[in-house]
Amino acid sequence: MGGHLVLVGYMGSGKSTLGPRVAEVLGMPFVELDSRIEEMAAMSIQEIFVSQGEARFREFESSVLRQTLAGPASVIATGGGVPMDDGNWRLVLDGNVVVHLSADTDELLDRIGVGGDRPLATGESPGEVRQQLVRILEGRRARYAEAPHTVDTSGRDVDSAASEVVAIGRRMGLGRPEGAGG
Ligand code: S3P
Repeated sequence: MGGHLVLVGYMGSGKSTLGPRVAEVLGMPFVELDSRIEEMAAMSIQEIFVSQGEARFREFESSVLRQTLAGPASVIATGGGVPMDDGNWRLVLDGNVVVHLSADTDELLDRIGVGGDRPLATGESPGEVRQQLVRILEGRRARYAEAPHTVDTSGRDVDSAASEVVAIGRRMGLGRPEGAGG
């Protein structure tokens, strides 16, 4: 257990976008937790929320997180709610490099958009989505801030933000060294 690079942060912070790039450069597998949950449940995250409720989704999420952390060292993109469960958070912080990806509220809103399939961004107008975002983010800010590393992705392209995450990973001893190819 341990030795993973775990990306945490709000919806739209760039975990799933940067993750594969970071994994490729470090020569580590990439795992997207939400996709694993969808595979395991054989339905989409949205369907799980609708048919079984958020509490059941959180159970799936904790269980898939545990399995993934017990597996080979990987770059893991977590869902935005993962750190809010104390048990999840303890496991995530235990022997892994944890990077919080942050972004300005306006940029998060732009990336999340209106009318997407995220069950916790269901507002029908940009104003409604913003209200929801601000409310949820307020409740999460302190927990996200406990992550030992934060990379601000606001106004940055994928390569620039990914390089910063890679540098943190390398500094903490993860992945193959620079120039090792593969
Ligand atoms: C959630 C974020 C989503 C997904 C689910 C709940 C959250 O993942 O896990 O909709 O609570 O913030 P992303 O952060 O990848 O969008």
